[in-house]
Amino acid sequence: MHIEIDAIAKEFGATRALHPVSLSIPEGALVALLGPSGSGKTTLLRLLGGLEFPTSGRVLFDGRDSTGMSVQERRAGFVFQSYALFRHMTVFENIAYGLRARPRALRPNRAEIARRVDRLLALIQLPGIGSRYPSQLSGGQRQRVALARALAIEPRMMLLDEPFGALDAKARKELRQGLRDIHDQTGLTTIFVTHDQEEAMALADLVVVMSMGRIEQIGRPADIRLRPATDFVRRFVEA
Ligand SMILES: Nc1ncnc2c1ncn2[C@@H]1O[C@H](COP(=O)(O)OP(=O)(O)O)[C@@H](O)[C@H]1O
Ligand SMILES: [Mg+2]
Repeated sequence: MHIEIDAIAKEFGATRALHPVSLSIPEGALVALLGPSGSGKTTLLRLLGGLEFPTSGRVLFDGRDSTGMSVQERRAGFVFQSYALFRHMTVFENIAYGLRARPRALRPNRAEIARRVDRLLALIQLPGIGSRYPSQLSGGQRQRVALARALAIEPRMMLLDEPFGALDAKARKELRQGLRDIHDQTGLTTIFVTHDQEEAMALADLVVVMSMGRIEQIGRPADIRLRPATDFVRRFVEA
């Protein structure tokens, strides 16, 4: 899905979380929203998913104005930093949750749900773990299950908020590759939030650098110019 962000801004009372920002995200892109804490990354992601509504501006999905569109209509697959899996449900039940929650007319039958869950477990390279509980999985495995659950609803876009944030270095690397593979296989427009420069550069086709509620740069990783940390130190020392 092609996403056109047209001058959206967001205020929370007196706090300006987002100044008017505009951004065009091509169909199938893998986009990193990169910036320090408080720069408005989560706010922008939540506005896309319909979890928040803009104070002004609008977002177009495949040319269609999304103002007033519900979360369900937007069909976003969400993944958050802390594994938002249901602890009392098995992996199978977690992945099937969104399908089972559909109104009867839109709900696949039991066999179809089982087929889809199996396909998704294969896609995340964890076949055969459907009967386990989240507590029996590693952090990286849980986050892959969270990806499968987000994919189960057949989303039109994937929105991931610091999906690697809670993982150790090894699990991070694996999940990065996992996200790449899934993106290659599904071709879904995917937007992930990170404050890790290296991660954004290694993974994304398009990097959006944010700072204080604004977009500072947009480009391919090779075209992004980041101020190295030493620059700050030098200026501080010279001042
Ligand atoms: N629900 C909220 N109520 C009040 N202020 C908020 C809310 N959500 C975010 N903010 C503020 O908006 C700014 C941007 O926050 P956020 O989008 O979460 O940044 P990031 O994800 O880049 O860390 C911050 O100053 C934050 O405190
Ligand atoms: Mg955030």
